[in-house]
Amino acid sequence: MTTATVDRPAEKPLHEDPARSYTLSARYYTAPEIYDREREAIFYRSWIYAGHVEELREPGSYITVPVIDQNLAVIRGKDGRLRAFYNVCQHRAHELLRGRGRTPVITCPYHAWSYHLDGRLRTARGSQNVEGFDADEFCLKGIQMEEFGPFVFVNLDPDAAPLAQQAGGLLDELRRYAPELDTLTKVQTATFEVKANWKVIVDNFLECYHCEPAHPAFVQLVDMDTYRSVTHDIYSTHVSRSGRPDNKAYKFDPKSESQIGAFWHLWPTMTFNATPGEANFEPFYLQPLGPERTLQITDYYFAGTEMTEQRQARLDYANDVLTIEDNNLCESVQRGLHSRGYSQGRFIVDRERTQISEHAVHHFHRLVARALGD
Ligand code: FES
Ligand SMILES: [Fe+2]
Repeated sequence: MTTATVDRPAEKPLHEDPARSYTLSARYYTAPEIYDREREAIFYRSWIYAGHVEELREPGSYITVPVIDQNLAVIRGKDGRLRAFYNVCQHRAHELLRGRGRTPVITCPYHAWSYHLDGRLRTARGSQNVEGFDADEFCLKGIQMEEFGPFVFVNLDPDAAPLAQQAGGLLDELRRYAPELDTLTKVQTATFEVKANWKVIVDNFLECYHCEPAHPAFVQLVDMDTYRSVTHDIYSTHVSRSGRPDNKAYKFDPKSESQIGAFWHLWPTMTFNATPGEANFEPFYLQPLGPERTLQITDYYFAGTEMTEQRQARLDYANDVLTIEDNNLCESVQRGLHSRGYSQGRFIVDRERTQISEHAVHHFHRLVARALGD
């Protein structure tokens, strides 16, 4: 009889105290089995960012939203109400709406069943010949949606508590640090496919321990000595004073509206960002494509759509420097998580919660474990 050999040390659990806790173990970032459990326990139950209300102002305007393997649509009705549905035809399951746009009725591209904007079945060719065909049986299946300031979120869990209740205080914070939040308009969207688990990208967002070694220009743009992270239940706040206006990231007027760098993570895959300079705001959010691939989307909002030299410089820095620096880190970590020479690390934290403290990463790992029941 042979004895099974264990070539990795036993997994150590998360501790409620970040100073005594190990990190989530590597398998959480690589195993398809964990990803499947996350789909049910996290993505089918949490508030997921759908888009900005400025794209949904007119009756019939819509956006589609992927949530792992589910395809959803948010659409404004003729009555002015926003509704969200599973984006699937009730005949034989063809996808209904694509991308984003505006339509007077929802018509399926396959056999042309059509639906009212409120989800009621409107026409089904030939159904008058079908015994007992009941149009009411084939309305689109609705899901929860919520307007959170100018942002629209969806939730597949019919019993989920409202986002405003779960993340009480977040909207007030966003408006406090970005007072123009409700009037800014989208100027550009940048999309990257990152070869990393979605949690690697969130982990990286949640600490600035890596900022000094990895982001030489960013640590001039925002002042590291004042960078502080505060965790709340399902969100965290990361705020710092402006750094040098003549930094290597982009120049900004020292008298401009925004004198801070403020960054928020909202469980599970949403972040909001405001950086020093003229009024600006960036929803930055993740759409997992698989256990080790994630779509990363950043929408840039300013007070008008004109592309000034200064705005271009900001976007160039964000898209061509900062994002690349971060994505290279995340992809290297993802490869490292497969190493037979790694299993778990420790969080670097301090009592003062200084700029290098990783307590917000620990908080996020605890949310993951809580959601999975681990
Ligand atoms: S699947 Fe939509 S009309 Fe047939
Ligand atoms: Fe970073």
